[in-house]
Amino acid sequence: MAVDVLLGLQWGDEGKGKIVDVLSPEYDLIARFQGGPNAGHTLEFDGQKYVLNTIPSGIFNTKTMNLIGNGVVIDPIILKRELETLKKSGFDPVAAQKLVIARKAHLILPTHQLLDAASESKMGDGKIGSTLKGIGPTYMDKTGRNGLRVGDTMLPDFKERYDKLVSKHLSILSHYGEVPDFSEKEQQLFEAIDYLKTIPQVDSEHFVNSYLKAGKTVLAEGAQGTMLDVDFGSYPFVTSSNTTTAGACTGLGIAPSAIGEVIGIFKAYCTRVGGGPFPTELHDETGEELRRVGHEFGATTGRPRRCGWIDLPALRYAIMLNGVTELVMTKADVLSGFDKIYACTHYNHNGELIDYMPYDICSVKPEPVYEEIEGWNEDLTGIKSPDEIPAKLKSYVSYLETALGVPVKYLSVGPDRVQTLVLR
Ligand code: GDP
Ligand code: IMO
Ligand code: MG
Repeated sequence: MAVDVLLGLQWGDEGKGKIVDVLSPEYDLIARFQGGPNAGHTLEFDGQKYVLNTIPSGIFNTKTMNLIGNGVVIDPIILKRELETLKKSGFDPVAAQKLVIARKAHLILPTHQLLDAASESKMGDGKIGSTLKGIGPTYMDKTGRNGLRVGDTMLPDFKERYDKLVSKHLSILSHYGEVPDFSEKEQQLFEAIDYLKTIPQVDSEHFVNSYLKAGKTVLAEGAQGTMLDVDFGSYPFVTSSNTTTAGACTGLGIAPSAIGEVIGIFKAYCTRVGGGPFPTELHDETGEELRRVGHEFGATTGRPRRCGWIDLPALRYAIMLNGVTELVMTKADVLSGFDKIYACTHYNHNGELIDYMPYDICSVKPEPVYEEIEGWNEDLTGIKSPDEIPAKLKSYVSYLETALGVPVKYLSVGPDRVQTLVLR
């Protein structure tokens, strides 16, 4: 058996949560492999909407086990809040034994968030636009070999380890100015850690491999998107983890040869939240219309998402990096009613026409070259079968399949679970 991977091909918010939920009945285990509560994965079904930050999006499927992998960074306060929200809606994943957590996953502390905010406030115009959840500083402590892990909470000297790391943070913070009071947050943290200890801890490498050995099916769930990958994204305007397929190997403890299908997800257009380059961004009424119709506001921070047309050089780059074998296109319904839609096929970069992602898109802005495509007017949100797809949308899908060289297997036509069409 192999681990299938589902991940975002753009700058995040492609609809990963919805599609993982839709696919979860096919899998025995759903495993988040990187990122943290900077993610907001939205699921809708039975008239209810849920936003998950740390918990895998298979959690509502009662047959599926869910793992928070070692590559994830965990804010115990946010995780506790997520679990309490689920409990209130009548579903307790811990009691139902549907959630386990990797003991090697790193912990986000209140002082990591203070460091995130302090660093951003000093950046001025060069601000990353971080979600301020403490993601960057926590991964820095991980690679700097200072971090605290979930398994450490069980050690008798956990508090001493915590104090040592916090004192290091405070000395860094003092260089930025006065350190805000975080005693209340600290109290919440320790309460949340007590709660965290009620979730079974596992070694994710053994856990996932034992599923494979037993012939069970596993889906690895990515967070963020390929263009936010710390190595290959629009650096430095990226997150601090590997959001690409390779991240599933290190974020769960599986060999590259254990990867099966790679399901790449993208919106029928493109969005980005936070700072940094976005070649196809629209600063006009069309951009506003995409934001309005697509409800493009961040699931975690509520910030308006920047909107623009689909970017094929960026998508081809993402498909190459991830080894994508099948595609999912979401939010096709949002484009209904646009007379013409546009696909960026090339960039003008330094006076040259190129069809790939260049090294530097930050200081030299690539100018998108567009192909005009006929839009469709039909409302898609009630479509139940691929036969009902308007001809012009069908030709947009075939155009993309040819341009990207990978089949589109699923088409999403609304936020609800049931608004999903299987094309192949
Ligand atoms: P994720 O981070 O990739 O899981 O995506 P988000 O949940 O942050 O953002 C996707 C948003 O689009 C959410 O509000 C979803 O409910 C919504 N959504 C997902 N698929 C569709 C779709 O096909 N059509 C529409 N209109 N909304 C969708
Ligand atoms: P999901 O999983 C969209 C963006 C932030 C910022 C940059 C760095 O819901 O798709 P960070 O907090 O990681 O230091 O922020 O990355 N970002 C996201 N954008 N979707 C996300 O997650 C994101 N997670 C981080 O806006 O530009
Ligand atoms: Mg999101």
